[in-house]
Amino acid sequence: MFVGVGPYTNWYHELVQTPERFKTVDIRDSVAMHGSPFGHWTCDFCKFGIMFDASSKFLFDHVCIYGILNYKPAHENRLELVRDFIKHADELVKPGGTFMFGPNRSDERTTAEMWAEEMKRPPLDGYEEMYFNFDGFLENCVWRGRKSL
Ligand SMILES: C[S@@+](CC[C@H](N)C(=O)[O-])C[C@H]1O[C@@H](n2cnc3c(N)ncnc32)[C@H](O)[C@@H]1O
Repeated sequence: MFVGVGPYTNWYHELVQTPERFKTVDIRDSVAMHGSPFGHWTCDFCKFGIMFDASSKFLFDHVCIYGILNYKPAHENRLELVRDFIKHADELVKPGGTFMFGPNRSDERTTAEMWAEEMKRPPLDGYEEMYFNFDGFLENCVWRGRKSL
């Protein structure tokens, strides 16, 4: 499950071993044509489960939320919104599956240290941390973890 698409993501399904299982979501209808040819939904990711009863139908090997938070129209980078994204992502990750979270860290209100603390809260405290980079050249932190079985 890859959240947020654009012209440059047209081919991202080719990056995974099972392209037919690569699914995408974006809140903007105008970018729907850039979603996965194997399944794309136009909706707010935080409403995905509610709209499609997805949490009972879909569990994903991996959920990627990269470059979404702090990007309009994802609203201001409010902590409640961040936690909502994390909660919904966690509901869609299968046991043993992985979650990648890449929030922006360039905003003065959202430091890398703040993200590091967020990663230690439920539900992510139940994940085995695989990777955490918050001082790379990118404007985003990158955290990746594996959900326990
Ligand atoms: C900068 S792009 C990032 C795209 C991609 N994830 C990447 O890594 O390049 C951000 C995208 O997130 C989408 N987006 C913002 N808030 C969203 C939400 N609540 N649910 C789904 N998509 C959202 C925007 O419409 C935009 O297309």
